[in-house]
Amino acid sequence: MIIKEHVNLKPRNTFGIEARCRYWIECDDEGQLLDLLASRPWRGQETFVLGGGSNVLFTADFPGVIFHPAMKEREIASETATEVFLRVGAGVPWDDVVRWAVERGYGGIENLSMVPGSVGATPVQNIGAYGAEIGERIARVEAIDVERGVKRVISGEECRFGYRDSLFKGEWKDRFIITRVTYRLSKTPRFHLDYRGVREEVERTGEPSLASIRQAIIRLREARLPDVKALPNAGSFFKNPVVERSIAERLSALFPAMPSYPAGEGNVKLAAGWLIEQAGWKGRAIGEAAVHDKQALVLVNKGGATGSEIARLANEIKKSVFMNFGVWIEPEVNIL
Ligand code: EPU
Repeated sequence: MIIKEHVNLKPRNTFGIEARCRYWIECDDEGQLLDLLASRPWRGQETFVLGGGSNVLFTADFPGVIFHPAMKEREIASETATEVFLRVGAGVPWDDVVRWAVERGYGGIENLSMVPGSVGATPVQNIGAYGAEIGERIARVEAIDVERGVKRVISGEECRFGYRDSLFKGEWKDRFIITRVTYRLSKTPRFHLDYRGVREEVERTGEPSLASIRQAIIRLREARLPDVKALPNAGSFFKNPVVERSIAERLSALFPAMPSYPAGEGNVKLAAGWLIEQAGWKGRAIGEAAVHDKQALVLVNKGGATGSEIARLANEIKKSVFMNFGVWIEPEVNIL
């Protein structure tokens, strides 16, 4: 376990924002973490769990304690004739898991290739891309209950996964430190090619396979999403808004080209990227904070932007989308 004070978080957030935290606790051992929790040296302080830092915006120094789970093991916990249950430490980069599975012919997560971040964040966010969501593949989550100081094993169903959502973001916010996640992978994969553009990209290089799908997804992502090394960012800054069908129908009548997708129970999901682009924001900047010129859902740091500058840009966009379409969009990124 590593405990440090006044840690510089710039290399630990993909927005590349200058910020420091009061305490940094990095731990790869559940037992040690439980011991530390029992003495609660940080009583009364704010806490936050930071994984890969790819979905967070620091608008100021963090005055409390940041936990960084660093469990790195990977093991096949069990298997059946058709499935493999892969148990992975929270600190493993997510794409290492995808690459490992694809190389061994285990399917179910290939469409989630190259999603940034670490394993521990996958259930919190219910990461999703190209027609797949990780919630469909999470068998269980192991976590430490910070309030009670005990270990819990939580089933996938208990997490109540929704679009970019789970109980870890709602009722359980700040309550658990996720230490391991077990994914259910298929030995007889079914390919998911129906998301816009995926089939065409896969077929450019031949027959669909786990490997060709992974390569196609990587190419699609590289074409539209900025590389954090060149242009620091946190992926989609906003969630796609889910609205009542009547509202979507009214907007579709006014804007026939507007993309929309059924979202269950009389709801419709709209494309925030489209709304932002139509409101005139694609490629625009306020100081060093900018809207990416290939994907308007992504905000980028062009250089020395501060967290508050990016938050200010986000707020302007949010108001402008509301003025144009009467729809509020909400950040997907954690703003601290
Ligand atoms: N669109 C625009 N202009 C834009 C962006 C999008 O008109 O600037 C339109 C597209 O033409 C399309 C629709 O909006 O008709 C949807 O766009 P796209 O398929 O690119 O996906 P998205 O809804 O913008 C979501 C995820 C991404 C994920 C992609 C691909 C969210 C918040 N974002 O974006 O996830 O990679 O689908 O599956 O759900 C992330 O979460 O960080 C992320 C990058």
